[in-house]
Amino acid sequence: MNLSHNTVLITGGASGIGLALAVRFLQAGSTVIVCGRRADKLAEAQQQHPGLHTRVADVADPAEREALVAWATAEFPALNVLVNNAGIQNRLSLTDETVAWETRRQEIAINFDAPIHLATLLVPHLRRQPGAAVINVTSGLAFAPMAMMPVYCATKAALHSLTLTLRHELAAVGVQVLEIVPPAVNTDLGGPGLHTFGEPLDAFADAVMARLAAGEQEVGYGSSEQSRLASRAELDTVFQRMNNR
Ligand SMILES: NC(=O)c1ccc[n+]([C@@H]2O[C@H](COP(=O)([O-])OP(=O)(O)OC[C@H]3O[C@@H](n4cnc5c(N)ncnc54)[C@H](OP(=O)(O)O)[C@@H]3O)[C@@H](O)[C@H]2O)c1
Repeated sequence: MNLSHNTVLITGGASGIGLALAVRFLQAGSTVIVCGRRADKLAEAQQQHPGLHTRVADVADPAEREALVAWATAEFPALNVLVNNAGIQNRLSLTDETVAWETRRQEIAINFDAPIHLATLLVPHLRRQPGAAVINVTSGLAFAPMAMMPVYCATKAALHSLTLTLRHELAAVGVQVLEIVPPAVNTDLGGPGLHTFGEPLDAFADAVMARLAAGEQEVGYGSSEQSRLASRAELDTVFQRMNNR
């Protein structure tokens, strides 16, 4: 895809991977809007990166998704790229009876309901725009899950599946559907300090953006590049290794 001359809406773009993508789209000459729940993080991102547009929005809430799309298309009629990046990761066993259903439901709403809903809300607008694209941020864990974060991994596997079908369907109307498949990256995902072992954020973001610019549709990095291309037997080995069996 062409990284310049776009108008890009990035969910969860005030920190981590979303902000790293936002900065690279900005540097390439695109207009960028980021949303998130925390006004202070959005203000901080805007202060550090003048030119960034921000909006407080909680994509777990269907009414807030509708309001976000209505606002973004009214304020930025050239909006042509949606990046479904917002995500949370809960380390909660399925057998932990103390976990309220609402906690699990929230993770599904943010990681999976929101990308489907935002894409379907925006497709009628996107199909009229040149160079339109939907970019979904999944995970290497979509291909081989970790048992200590079962709902997270299932939402990412589902989002990978949705990416394939949406790509097939939107090809006819000229909207590209792309997938970024991160490995563990050093961000605050799941809480500060839980991903310090991950890949350096800038190196990861530089590499995936260069490959999207070169025309690739599905882009991994390091271990997630191996997982997305692995055979079933190789994924079984990864599963055993990650889950200490
Ligand atoms: N880091 C990794 O190791 C890794 C690996 C594979 C995939 N990923 C994926 O990469 C994406 C970005 O994660 P990250 O690593 O950059 O983590 P992060 O630093 O925690 O960023 C997540 C962002 O999503 C926003 N967000 C969360 N819930 C939201 C909601 N309901 N509405 C709007 N925004 C929301 C957060 O802002 P607020 O809290 O202010 O809303 C935050 O800016 C996620 O989809 C994640 O699953 C990350």
